[in-house]
Amino acid sequence: MSAPAGFEGRLRPPAFEEAKSRHQKARAAGLDPDYWYPVAHDADVPAKGIVEVRFWNRSIALFRGDDGVLRAIENRCAHRQLKLTLGEVDGCELVCSYHGWAYSGDGRVVRIPHDLFGRPMPSFRIPSVPVRVRYGLVWIFPGDIRLEAVRAIPEIPELEGDDRWACVPLDFTWKAHHSMIIDNVSDFTHAWLHRKYRPFDNAKLLRCDTEGDRVHVRYDTRIGGGRISGLFVDRKRVSTNTIDLCYEYPYQWSDTDGKIKHWCFVLPIDERTTRVFFLFYFDALQIPFLGWKVPQWMMGPLLKVSNPLLIAPLLRQDGFAVEAEQEAYDTHFRASIGELNPAVGMFQDLTIRKWQEHLGRARA
Ligand code: FES
Ligand SMILES: [Fe+2]
Repeated sequence: MSAPAGFEGRLRPPAFEEAKSRHQKARAAGLDPDYWYPVAHDADVPAKGIVEVRFWNRSIALFRGDDGVLRAIENRCAHRQLKLTLGEVDGCELVCSYHGWAYSGDGRVVRIPHDLFGRPMPSFRIPSVPVRVRYGLVWIFPGDIRLEAVRAIPEIPELEGDDRWACVPLDFTWKAHHSMIIDNVSDFTHAWLHRKYRPFDNAKLLRCDTEGDRVHVRYDTRIGGGRISGLFVDRKRVSTNTIDLCYEYPYQWSDTDGKIKHWCFVLPIDERTTRVFFLFYFDALQIPFLGWKVPQWMMGPLLKVSNPLLIAPLLRQDGFAVEAEQEAYDTHFRASIGELNPAVGMFQDLTIRKWQEHLGRARA
């Protein structure tokens, strides 16, 4: 006999195949690996640096050779499966810490520094993972290598070229399933959580529709109306009464009057851990109290100061909420959900459909 809702404490939430409701399915779904995912900031991997990154429980060794190029290979030695991140970089190769087998960026064992017992050099190889650097982020393609060239890293023209907008990236690792984060960033019913900062007020849903692999949402709301953030928003130049958001699978973005934008990239580390990379970028900020438009050259330094003060505390509130939601879900996963915002169901349907499609391809 099944336990009544609210008493599931010792049971575990169902896996994707066993999940009954949309809610349970969304919370068990992975993200399609056939996309580019950011895993680190380029600046965080020094020369000869090795970083372990994880995509949906798969460990990957990211390392930078003497030539400055980043490479990524599965994080296990073909010999005895030790993590290669325990090793060291030698030239452009990653050397295992135990018997010193050396791996090139394409995952081939290129050197074995001990006796081969009369054998010719064996041809061992572990999978490699495509890596690129864009917008200051390191991206990997964890999926089917044949699709690497077909799928593109999102185009953000505002962040490229000489007159690119100022942008300071922020990232967090939250103990929550990625779908909870996608629900959070595009569902503006949680103004209560941010009542101290008021990044959006009194939001009314104006649009909510799915178009292929995108869910579009628009709210009538007042953006950046809070006590501190409101000082910086240049209301003479930006209409801050509506905001467009999109779950552009597997990414999310917002656009306020073409002047205040962000992208949110989630890295699903495992079923309960997600790293979130945010890029906030602005074309119109004003100098508080003076009302002057912040000149482009001053935007970078201003954002460096303002992002940790204005945006990071706000996002930490979201982190608090999604982690609390994960904890709640782990206990009450069989309780029905009182969801009111129709957009949330659309985000979840897209996540579920894409994961089903991925599983179908993987089975085939
Ligand atoms: S375990 Fe890696 S070289 Fe032996
Ligand atoms: Fe929020």
